Amino acid sequence: MISSNDKNKAQTSRPGREMMDELGTDFRKAMRRLTSAVSVISTAHAGVRYGITVTSVTSVSMAPPSLLICINQRASIHTPMIRAGQFCVNILQAHHIEIANAFSGGTPAGTDRFLCGEWASDDEELPYLIPAQASVFCDMDAISSYGTHSIIVGKVRQVAVRGQVAPLLYQDGQYTVGLGEGVDWIVPIA
Ligand SMILES: Cc1cc2nc3c(=O)[nH]c(=O)nc-3n(C[C@H](O)[C@H](O)[C@H](O)COP(=O)(O)O)c2cc1C
Repeated sequence: MISSNDKNKAQTSRPGREMMDELGTDFRKAMRRLTSAVSVISTAHAGVRYGITVTSVTSVSMAPPSLLICINQRASIHTPMIRAGQFCVNILQAHHIEIANAFSGGTPAGTDRFLCGEWASDDEELPYLIPAQASVFCDMDAISSYGTHSIIVGKVRQVAVRGQVAPLLYQDGQYTVGLGEGVDWIVPIA
């Protein structure tokens, strides 16, 4: 038996859910127009390497040099990265699509992902992609939980930059490239 109160709830909850679905769809459509550079976040804990493809890298401040990343709490890297207290942001080159695919589920979570690309470790055992556009080595400095994700601030301790500016980009649900200063070629996208 539905009380008059429950009836009101039933009447209002359906359009409410539809409105939320529509908002979610519109939000996805908007985000498809937000072109972002693609990076792989890497870390190691207890001798095991972890990595994930992301676009959620944002510079925070120059004083101190810092950036933030947003990581799904269900991602395999999430807990080990917090325990390790450090991570590396490897900004991918335009032709690193295979690496982006491997670290976004193309290869099952675990060390096998690191068979794709040339990887090394720094003195702190932090893995980094040798031919990345740039590798930004960070110590975790703050973490905040929001919905399904953790927002993690990294304090930069070291940076390596390589070659011309030609990062792999993600736009409208697919990989693409831009042209950096002095770069007069386009990498074919598979
Ligand atoms: C281009 C691209 C960008 C992504 N950005 C993020 C991100 O910023 N944060 C995140 O948690 N997952 C992001 N993902 C999803 C993860 O890469 C994917 O879910 C990954 O497989 C999760 O890691 P796991 O398989 O190790 O659990 C992105 C995926 C792609 C293809």
